[in-house]
Amino acid sequence: MTRVAVATAFGGPEVIAIVDEQLAEPAAGQVLVEVKAIGVNPIDYKLYSGAFGSDVSTLPLHLGNEASGVVVAVGDAAQGRGGPVSVGDEVIVKGVGGVYAEKVLVPAEAVLPKPAELDWESAAGLLGVAGTAFDTLETVGIAAGDTLLVHGAAGGVGSIVVQLARARGARVIGTARAINHDALREYGAEPVEYGPGLIERIRELAPDGIDAAIDAVGTDEAIDVSLELLSDTSRLVTIAAFGRAAKDGFPSVGGANPQSLERRSNAALSLIAQAAAGEFTVTIAKTFPLSDAAKAHAELQSEHPRGKFVLIP
Ligand SMILES: NC(=O)c1ccc[n+]([C@@H]2O[C@H](COP(=O)([O-])OP(=O)(O)OC[C@H]3O[C@@H](n4cnc5c(N)ncnc54)[C@H](OP(=O)(O)O)[C@@H]3O)[C@@H](O)[C@H]2O)c1
Repeated sequence: MTRVAVATAFGGPEVIAIVDEQLAEPAAGQVLVEVKAIGVNPIDYKLYSGAFGSDVSTLPLHLGNEASGVVVAVGDAAQGRGGPVSVGDEVIVKGVGGVYAEKVLVPAEAVLPKPAELDWESAAGLLGVAGTAFDTLETVGIAAGDTLLVHGAAGGVGSIVVQLARARGARVIGTARAINHDALREYGAEPVEYGPGLIERIRELAPDGIDAAIDAVGTDEAIDVSLELLSDTSRLVTIAAFGRAAKDGFPSVGGANPQSLERRSNAALSLIAQAAAGEFTVTIAKTFPLSDAAKAHAELQSEHPRGKFVLIP
């Protein structure tokens, strides 16, 4: 048996229930992981919000797609992303649904080794934001000498975009609330406040213009300002304004896009190694017990502290 958090209906965080479910022994190619920490991402609540459909036959919805934990049982021929998987291995689980749980039974290929340098919380919250950030940088081809504008630069994804872009030698201008500007400077970005007058503030900082823009928030303001400033719209990418990307003809990336999935999956081991080496940092804002998943989701949907939310079973 395992305790899991599921969405029992479509709606707000109040639809989340904590229930007990049966767990089978691992079959060939499967691994049973005792979960230590779970990364919380906006997609977790968007899935039961109705934004991606509301087919009741999919209920209860099992939530969450990234976690860290310890392998407690393995089936035959359990080959993980870093080689054979054994009982006792400390791992990251990524790319399977339903990890809001005390224990998860997953295909071995969803398991990657967790370096000792990463604590459980950082490991659990790493790959969703870092994979997305890497995907955006590749999509707009960020290289040394570029001036990059990042919208939502203090966010889970945005903060990694900033750090990885700086490591590539780009200059980064990032939008955030004033309270987050010191943190942006620490990540290596020049901060600007979003809101009315944004385009003038950016022009003041970069009179020769910007070369690329990454939207990690999805507002019309972020898209309108980027389109106005960029001559080449192939160098704007969004992770959230999918309607605008389709309408205005610029790229978007997402976990449901096969090219994004492949790119993120191929980069996963190297992103883990870079994080373990301290080349970028995942900021953890808050931890909640798994039983408070609804509270975490409600808070994540309002103005919230900078950094990732993590659930502890
Ligand atoms: N397509 C993908 O593959 C993918 C992957 C991950 C996430 N996403 C999506 O990307 C978005 C961000 O995800 P996240 O995990 O980074 O969330 P997050 O940690 O909550 O960050 C969002 C950031 O947006 C900023 N923000 C809020 N209102 C803003 C505004 N009006 N203008 C500019 N910035 C504003 C906030 O910064 P301040 O506190 O400074 O206001 C906040 O830090 C979500 O919609 C999520 O669903 C998509």
